[in-house]
Amino acid sequence: MSDPNSLSDLADEIERLVRAYSARAHAANGPAGADPEPFEPGKTPVPYASRVFTGNEVAAAVRTTLDFWLTLGPQGDAFEKELAAAIGVKRSILTNSGSSANLLAVSSLTSSKLPTERRLRPGDEVITCASGFPTTAAPIVQNGAVPVFIDSNPVTGNADCSKIEEAYAPGRTKAVVLAHALGNPFDLASVVKFCRANDLWLIEDNCDALGSLYTMPGKAPHLTGTFGDLSTQSFYPAHHITTGEGGAVNITRDMRFKVILESFRDWGRDCWCASGHENTCGKRFGWQLGELPEGYDHKYTYSHLGYNLKPLDIQAAIGREQLKRLQGFVEARRRNWERLRAGLAHLSDFLEFMEATPGSVPSWFGFMLLVRDGAPFTAVELSRHLDAHKIGNRRLFGGNLVRQPAFVQLRSDNPNALRVVGNLEGADRLMRSALFVGVYPGLTPEMLDYVIWVIGDFCIKPARKRPKTS
Ligand SMILES: Cc1ncc(COP(=O)(O)O)c(C=O)c1O
Repeated sequence: MSDPNSLSDLADEIERLVRAYSARAHAANGPAGADPEPFEPGKTPVPYASRVFTGNEVAAAVRTTLDFWLTLGPQGDAFEKELAAAIGVKRSILTNSGSSANLLAVSSLTSSKLPTERRLRPGDEVITCASGFPTTAAPIVQNGAVPVFIDSNPVTGNADCSKIEEAYAPGRTKAVVLAHALGNPFDLASVVKFCRANDLWLIEDNCDALGSLYTMPGKAPHLTGTFGDLSTQSFYPAHHITTGEGGAVNITRDMRFKVILESFRDWGRDCWCASGHENTCGKRFGWQLGELPEGYDHKYTYSHLGYNLKPLDIQAAIGREQLKRLQGFVEARRRNWERLRAGLAHLSDFLEFMEATPGSVPSWFGFMLLVRDGAPFTAVELSRHLDAHKIGNRRLFGGNLVRQPAFVQLRSDNPNALRVVGNLEGADRLMRSALFVGVYPGLTPEMLDYVIWVIGDFCIKPARKRPKTS
């Protein structure tokens, strides 16, 4: 330390120590190959996902903690801008999770600041997909609207978009909310066309798909998350970049959503001052709004029934570092997916593999396979076998959501609380037969080859030699 009295020298010294600590304590968390410990098949876990970071993220978190601004502030402003630029949207609004981002995006459609005929009102319908993550669909119910579940295509893992016309109820349908399953874009060409033709809002749940590309016929490729009116991200550790908990809503075109989203996110307030600022509008005590007394403090004027869904500035500082790694992460995920696909190809009598949607280049969240109906084992047996070999594996989240206890209860309490189109046999097949293993950037070729070997050995081993499962 050159000057013990200088705060910036003290901070530099702390950062130096933090980096030295992190280099030793977190050696295994760096990109693939950074772990000094050798990989021991069957002993070293092969997670389906994990955080990948170095001292840069830890130093950014500590530096921001030293500033002790805490709530969303300068780091948040910078991360929102950098994220929006990286995705190619007009604006990103940070939240404390992907689920909060979905809640915020759907809630924003109820705003009285939108044209009356486009507003989402209680009893209106929103088309969504039967299979996937529960908090893609839950915000529809949480906002008093009715989710209309269409079936899934088990091979892409996505909504079967040929069912969308059948789900449409003129006058009642107000929006479509769909996720890009495991990073695989849904059929954006047909969904965007359908939404435009019928004046419906489109929300892309892009939580699993940061970096995925989709090409509209006759156009250049664009990142998913730029096609709908709004899109959402998650920064939970399993996702492409992480801030621990965290997420964002992206605004693609219509900047009316900025004030609406920030209002719902920040307690429902009408005031649009950034955290720590006041009187941005220049008439904090000069408004006469609705039934409020003249001059009532604009800071305490509420135009929406809002929430508080903000993350911390520290999370944004971590996110800024993670964003610098995004391109490398996306490439590693694609490479890892291809290695698994090639290595497992000979097992196609037993397994069916997820296929990229035509026109897309996915930034894969995981490698999904389906156990064929005639195979001499079930997906549960394969999951148990992988588990026993320390290979992380997951189901396609909630499978057929309509079968989940929360949605069964919802329907039993009120049969009109949701609507189902068709027999959902695709979603049922995903629930019965699909599982996925990891492709995240911390996985090495050795680990992936071990996964291939374990799955191959399980499939080909005569049934009598397979471990008994109950
Ligand atoms: C498609 C999808 N949407 C939303 C979420 C929720 O994100 P979070 O865990 O950040 O709430 C997830 C979580 O994995 C997800 O997979």
